Amino acid sequence: MALVLGIESSCDETAVALVTTDRRIVAQRIASQDAEHAPYGGVVPEIAARAHAERLAPMIAGMLEDAGVELADCDAIAATAGPGLIGGVMVGLVSAKALAMATDVPLIAINHLEGHALSPRLADPSLEFPYILLLVSGGHCQILRVEGVGRYRRLATTIDDALGEAFDKTAKILGIGFPGGPAVERLATKGDPKAVLLPRPLVGSGEPHFSFAGLKSAVLRAKESGKFADADIAASFQQAALDCVTDRLRVALGATAPAPALVVAGGVAANQAIRTALEALAQEHEMRFVAPPPALCTDNAAMIAWAGCERIGQSDSLDTAARPRWPLDPEAEPVRGAGYKA
Ligand code: KG4
Ligand code: ZN
Repeated sequence: MALVLGIESSCDETAVALVTTDRRIVAQRIASQDAEHAPYGGVVPEIAARAHAERLAPMIAGMLEDAGVELADCDAIAATAGPGLIGGVMVGLVSAKALAMATDVPLIAINHLEGHALSPRLADPSLEFPYILLLVSGGHCQILRVEGVGRYRRLATTIDDALGEAFDKTAKILGIGFPGGPAVERLATKGDPKAVLLPRPLVGSGEPHFSFAGLKSAVLRAKESGKFADADIAASFQQAALDCVTDRLRVALGATAPAPALVVAGGVAANQAIRTALEALAQEHEMRFVAPPPALCTDNAAMIAWAGCERIGQSDSLDTAARPRWPLDPEAEPVRGAGYKA
């Protein structure tokens, strides 16, 4: 059994965790920066990087002390090395390198998306490869065939906004706070999902890609019309987004070899309506449905430590660079209209 220290700092959560290869989260700490970014309605990269730099070292020291663990007891230090906001990624990665250098514990540079992609296996020991993964976060919206650690085939991606981004923009339009996903989900429970007629971009298309920019513009027009209650707009938006997700997944499932499990991960996977819809879709396809507990869906360091556990025995050079972009499937073909999120 090996013990891995995980460090996550790619966006606006400073997080550290200790996880064992037999799936025990020994300790973890998360400091959210919501209060710092809320006045701007989104994450400000410079503020994020400074907050990580201030918090990370005391969080690691405090967690180790509480857990009664010496740094030298760790078998690896796993840190997010990208993709993400580069200033924050550098803070976490450079800290990990310094700790690795001081203790001779191996460094493992983790792709944040791999952290999300493998997180369901931390929560569910019976989840084996391959599985079909819907990875939905603030910056990414992809369907992947996960064949093994480091073996990802991208079946679909978004040609414009990520799903979490669509939730965040809807929240901004409705003026219900930041971060937007949980706020939209809460408001949607009070609204009628059929009240506002909204588009379902790309639904019916033969390729399984996503698009959410048109949906966001339609939400803006609905709000500006003054004809609808905010709760009805939120519920209708969430329903339209769900319809897009299930339609796109149906196409992707039809185009790939059968796999025993349908899995969801990433921040938006915390959404109960999406979990319910995906569970039904999995049943329809006679697949098992796996979703990590919500706290493991949104950014955290346990998933980074767990990705380190999955890669235990490997070690990366202390020269490893932080990467603002780092696709899980470098061979995936570019998609028409897809920008940096591909
Ligand atoms: O994975 P994550 O924590 O960070 C990134 O890697 O991007 O995902 C954050 C995204 C945000 O867009 C947030 O609004 C969304 O996940 N999110 C949700 C919910 N909780 C978080 N979206 C919908 N419903 C939720 N309950
Ligand atoms: Zn994330």
